[in-house]
Amino acid sequence: MRIHVTVNGSEHDVETEANMTLLDFLRDGLRLTGTKECCAVGECGACTVLVDGRAVNSCLMLTAESDGGEVTTIEGLAAGGKLSVLQDAFLASGAVQCGFCIPGQVVAAHHLLARNPHPTLDEVKEGLSGNLCRCGGYMQICAAVVAAGRANR
Ligand code: FES
Ligand code: FES
Repeated sequence: MRIHVTVNGSEHDVETEANMTLLDFLRDGLRLTGTKECCAVGECGACTVLVDGRAVNSCLMLTAESDGGEVTTIEGLAAGGKLSVLQDAFLASGAVQCGFCIPGQVVAAHHLLARNPHPTLDEVKEGLSGNLCRCGGYMQICAAVVAAGRANR
C-alpha cells in the first residue's frame, strides 16, 4: 500500500508492505539507524519514537499505521545540528555508557518533558519505566532528565 508520512520534518510518499514495522521502515527504508532494535516485542523501549507526539515502540507499530502522521526519531531532536538541552544533560551527567538504549531513553524523556517540564526524580523513573538499560546506568539517566527539567525553568 502507498502511504504518506512525515519523518523529522521531511515528507515521504512510499510504497510499504502491509506487515512492515515502523522500526524497519525507519532503519532499513530511511537509514535512520539511531532508533535501535533490541527485543522487537515491545519490552525494552530501544525503538521508541514519537508518532503525532505520542511515544510508541516502533517495533510494535506497522508503517501503514503512520499514514498521514508525523514521526520524530532521535535524529529529529537536534535542531539545526545543535544538541537539545536534554541531550546536553545526558552528556553532562555521564548517562551514556554503551549508548545502545540511549536514543530510546532520550526520546521517551523528551516526551515526558513535553507533558511535565519539571519532573521529580520519581516522575522520571515512572516516565522512563518502559525503557530498559543493560548497562545499569539508570541513576545517571534519571539525573540527566531531572537536570534538563531544571534547565526548563
Ligand atoms: S525493540 Fe521495540 S520495545 Fe524492544
Ligand atoms: S547505556 Fe548501554 S544499554 Fe543503556
